[in-house]
Amino acid sequence: MAYRMILNETSYFGAGSRKVIAEEVAKRGYKKALIVTDKDLIKFGVADQVIAVLKDANIPYEIFDEVKPNPTVKNVKAGIAAFQAAGADFMIAIGGGSSMDTSKAIGIIINNPEFSDVVSLEGVANTKKKSVPVIALPTTAGTAAEVTINYVITDEENVKKMVCVDPNDIPTLAIIDPELMLSMPRGLTASTGMDALTHAIEGLITLGAWEMSDMFETKAIEMIAKWLPKAVENPSDIEARDGMATAQYIAGMAFSNVGLGLVHGMAHPLGAYYDIPHGVANALLLPFVMEYNKEAAKAKYRTIAEAMGVDTSSMSDDEAADAAVKAVKDLAIRVRIPQHLSEIGVPESGLPTLAQAAFNDVCTPGNPRQTNVEEILAIYKKAF
Ligand SMILES: NC(=O)c1ccc[n+]([C@@H]2O[C@H](COP(=O)([O-])OP(=O)(O)OC[C@H]3O[C@@H](n4cnc5c(N)ncnc54)[C@H](O)[C@@H]3O)[C@@H](O)[C@H]2O)c1
Ligand SMILES: [Fe+2]
Repeated sequence: MAYRMILNETSYFGAGSRKVIAEEVAKRGYKKALIVTDKDLIKFGVADQVIAVLKDANIPYEIFDEVKPNPTVKNVKAGIAAFQAAGADFMIAIGGGSSMDTSKAIGIIINNPEFSDVVSLEGVANTKKKSVPVIALPTTAGTAAEVTINYVITDEENVKKMVCVDPNDIPTLAIIDPELMLSMPRGLTASTGMDALTHAIEGLITLGAWEMSDMFETKAIEMIAKWLPKAVENPSDIEARDGMATAQYIAGMAFSNVGLGLVHGMAHPLGAYYDIPHGVANALLLPFVMEYNKEAAKAKYRTIAEAMGVDTSSMSDDEAADAAVKAVKDLAIRVRIPQHLSEIGVPESGLPTLAQAAFNDVCTPGNPRQTNVEEILAIYKKAF
């Protein structure tokens, strides 16, 4: 058995850490940046906090801001054209998972043009060359796309969220600056934070988990339980923002290398068919799938409960497992995550199609309990 660990070349953490871009760009000899972001981040002045660093250091750049949440093949193709037109030699991704994932796809295709149709990148693509260098600055505390070897692009034509797994895509530099997260509204803080919790829990119980990944995921769960309510309830609490920023990165360090499970498998079709934000989909499904996986991952559920602050010393294994599910449910309610699919515009008639797509998703085989389409449909129905 060989356990693989792929991480960024360099990463920086802490309030104001975005300022290191100036010296890193000079040291690496990069010439011109394409900034990959979205229109809201321009509008809310989040991208400007990074652009100010480039201006101060006289680093040339152009902006591509056409990324949409749940980014599409069309977004990627437009980004490739923008990179080429700009004459850029590196990218700065500013945003949530959507902007960072789009930059990864652009960077891979620029250096591996045989994949320029984008859709052939789905799954584990056999690219030969590393991506164009990407400096990734997350503005949400959730996806950890700045440290993962995955990116998720929606194939509009086939109504599918394609999960692409490729070590060549990992951003060279990750800068986790919680000041970029202060402007997140409560709902976004909550849903992206619950995405991070889902990564930590699925990464802990996934079939590929081992001692080192368990160490990261357990710590991430502990930090998210501590900091997420504070970040949601007091959005300007920089200590809470910093705690969440670091926690979601730690979760990513592990899940990127060991895989996820059925929550993500079931969340992806909700994004593809109904454009449900990724964090909301995961947060809503997490307690239902935890209930389903309970027997298959019982010992780890005690770890989850303990990391979430429950004293399980006098509990049986069953009681501790129930306590883990309850702690997750309570946290979701506290940060006001919707509780049912019917509340977020998913029609009951769509559930069978979702169940088939979830069964085929790249994340599903990592689930600790072997599953099938009928059982997935039953979980969607419970969540409905
Ligand atoms: N690469 C991976 O490993 C990985 C892991 C999990 C999810 N994903 C993917 O990431 C995407 C979701 O990313 P996300 O949840 O980070 O959200 P997102 O990037 O889709 O952004 C959602 C919205 O939040 C806004 N926003 C972001 N930061 C903000 C801030 N600081 N202040 C105000 N508004 C802000 C954006 O402008 C956008 O409108 C999905 O496509 C999902 O499938 C990727
Ligand atoms: Fe996720």
